[in-house]
Amino acid sequence: MTSRTSSASSRALPDVALPGVADARTLPDRQFADAWASIEFPEGVKERLLRTVIAKFRLRRTVPFETMPLHGVVLLTGVPGVGKTTVARGLADKTARTLHGIGDWAFIEVDPHALAGSALGRSQRAVEQLFGQTLSEAAADGPLVVLLDEVETLAADRSALSMEANPIDVHRAVDAALVGIDRLAQQHPDVLVIATSNFPGGIDPALTSRADAVFQIPLPDAVLRRRILESTAAAVAAAFPGAQSLCDPTVLDAAAQLSEGIDGRRLRKAVASACAWRPEALGDPENVTGEDLLAALQAMRVER
Ligand SMILES: Nc1ncnc2c1ncn2[C@@H]1O[C@H](COP(=O)(O)OP(=O)(O)O)[C@@H](O)[C@H]1O
Ligand SMILES: [Mg+2]
Repeated sequence: MTSRTSSASSRALPDVALPGVADARTLPDRQFADAWASIEFPEGVKERLLRTVIAKFRLRRTVPFETMPLHGVVLLTGVPGVGKTTVARGLADKTARTLHGIGDWAFIEVDPHALAGSALGRSQRAVEQLFGQTLSEAAADGPLVVLLDEVETLAADRSALSMEANPIDVHRAVDAALVGIDRLAQQHPDVLVIATSNFPGGIDPALTSRADAVFQIPLPDAVLRRRILESTAAAVAAAFPGAQSLCDPTVLDAAAQLSEGIDGRRLRKAVASACAWRPEALGDPENVTGEDLLAALQAMRVER
């Protein structure tokens, strides 16, 4: 643990230079609150996600593990770009705000890619160090949310790993990750692990079975696509008044219809592409039109 603390919190945070630590901060966090607000999910899904986490947290603190084996692990699955990482950060913030009475909260985001792919013999040690030292020290210090983003990298299905293509160390690293999650859960009831995966089929079943809840995040439907496009267009128009025609309801209706199958990330990017669409607009968002947005989305559809 280093001494990096925020003024409002007494929590010490791990050094983000440590292998596998992508982010460390105290909660609540304004940026994460904005992240939560920015995500458009089907009616009631975000609320259910939060209720699920809060209920499990309360149960884990009071009901013995032997009676109710809750690991404090929530798994979010879905294709890339549907908002899993963003909502996970928002969920961390919401959880800390809701359960504010139990102490100063910390958040650590794990970058599994930094743990995998290291030299033979290193990834297992790196995983053990992360769970056995970094995360468990943080958990001993108070309530903690751990985000295991793209967890398939860390907990790849061992039965699908070929021994030739994957050195024995990868198998050991997966074992170490599973043992690490178990220890964290059993020794520290005030830890919430949020795992995300773009390829749920590639996760070791032992991890899936440890998840107390699995949420499958779908591609946005027409209503959600319209909202995502509208919020993106509104942000551009707020900065570039000439872009106001992006917010025209008939443009947004048509754009939402046109963009079936396009994920949230690409929808937001389509608005940027629209600003670069016509050569004569010279890449100035002041010159973007609703037609540019429709053309950019149409091109994205063709690409798929
Ligand atoms: N359902 C959604 N509502 C609003 N924005 C979304 C949605 N899905 C994705 N986005 C936006 O797309 C970007 C990528 O989202 P991200 O959370 O990284 O997706 P994932 O982790 O599923 O790949 C973010 O800027 C996010 O705000
Ligand atoms: Mg992600």
